[in-house]
Amino acid sequence: MKNILITGASGFIGSFLVEEGLKQGFQVYAGIRKSSSRGYLKDDRIQFLEFDFSTREKILVTLEDCRKNNIRFQYIIHNAGLTKAQKKEDFYNVNCRNTVHFIEALIQAEMVPEKFVFVSSLAAYGPGNPFTGEPVRLADEPKPIELYGKSKLDAERYITALRDFPWLIIRPTGVYGPKEKDYFVFFQTINRGMEPYIGFKKQILTFIYVRDLVRVIYLALASSHVNKAWFASDGKEYPSELFAQITKKALGKKTVKFTVPLFLVKTIATIGEHVAGLWGSTPTLNTDKYNVLKSTNWRCEVEPLEKDLGFKAEYDLEKGVAETLEWYKREKWL
Ligand SMILES: NC(=O)c1ccc[n+]([C@@H]2O[C@H](COP(=O)([O-])OP(=O)(O)OC[C@H]3O[C@@H](n4cnc5c(N)ncnc54)[C@H](OP(=O)(O)O)[C@@H]3O)[C@@H](O)[C@H]2O)c1
Repeated sequence: MKNILITGASGFIGSFLVEEGLKQGFQVYAGIRKSSSRGYLKDDRIQFLEFDFSTREKILVTLEDCRKNNIRFQYIIHNAGLTKAQKKEDFYNVNCRNTVHFIEALIQAEMVPEKFVFVSSLAAYGPGNPFTGEPVRLADEPKPIELYGKSKLDAERYITALRDFPWLIIRPTGVYGPKEKDYFVFFQTINRGMEPYIGFKKQILTFIYVRDLVRVIYLALASSHVNKAWFASDGKEYPSELFAQITKKALGKKTVKFTVPLFLVKTIATIGEHVAGLWGSTPTLNTDKYNVLKSTNWRCEVEPLEKDLGFKAEYDLEKGVAETLEWYKREKWL
């Protein structure tokens, strides 16, 4: 039986990665923090490993314990990451610095796996050109537009410069599905009869359903590829009104449409950031978030992923949203 370590196992994507690992017959090690919830990790075949990624030495303590117990990982999925942060520096610390510590510790402990997948993000490359509408391509120069994306890119730059390290990088676009908390706010808003838009320009969004993303990651592990990166989306593109239409249809709701002009969003973001900054924190709507919200082209190329891994999404937005909303309703989130 092969061993797989999944970091960030307690979160939305991590818990699906754990479920799939068990289904595929791996011995799954869920990498979590002392403070992490185990609410989505109930299967008693799961082995837990507590990691503190803040220093290489602390990671080495956990790895040494593994060695003493003859545990070696054939595969590692480094999925732990921060998508929202209280303090700006947290993005760099968690997404880049912790990744560096983790890899340095694996190398020092001579526990480099056969494959190491880093879960990055389309945000590391930023949006596509708004004028040509061309998708972001693997050959493009990365142009992240916010600190989250920059921190993922910094981690990627460290990883891709490594010699003799079997990395793979997956850059998902927006991931949605059961347990997810950010798109959930949009579903909740539609459910309450409101249909908000930001800015008057048409936005093209891309998505991947969590179960499809998990398939991508396991296909990458099982493939003969190393030292390669791919963008991951369901291969379709969705104008923002279509996202709303699909959601309304699935919820059977009528809504009132309204548009918040960009200048107003920017003003709120700038003032909010200034005020919260006095207390050393960052509000949810900040200038970084504004940069993301105003971007109109989130297309990314998926042909290399389809060609290299034989991936074809099983879920389009309609099917994925229906399954997601069913879960939210069953769990009484909606
Ligand atoms: N959701 C998306 O749309 C999307 C898109 C592209 C890429 N990604 C990437 O996918 C990965 C998983 O994201 P998600 O959406 O599943 O987010 P999530 O639900 O917030 O899960 C994040 C996971 O990372 C762990 N984590 C956060 N800070 C940590 C730290 N300092 N040390 C150790 N573990 C830490 C969390 O542990 P706790 O439970 O203890 O907090 C949690 O298990 C992230 O790397 C994210 O950047 C997500």
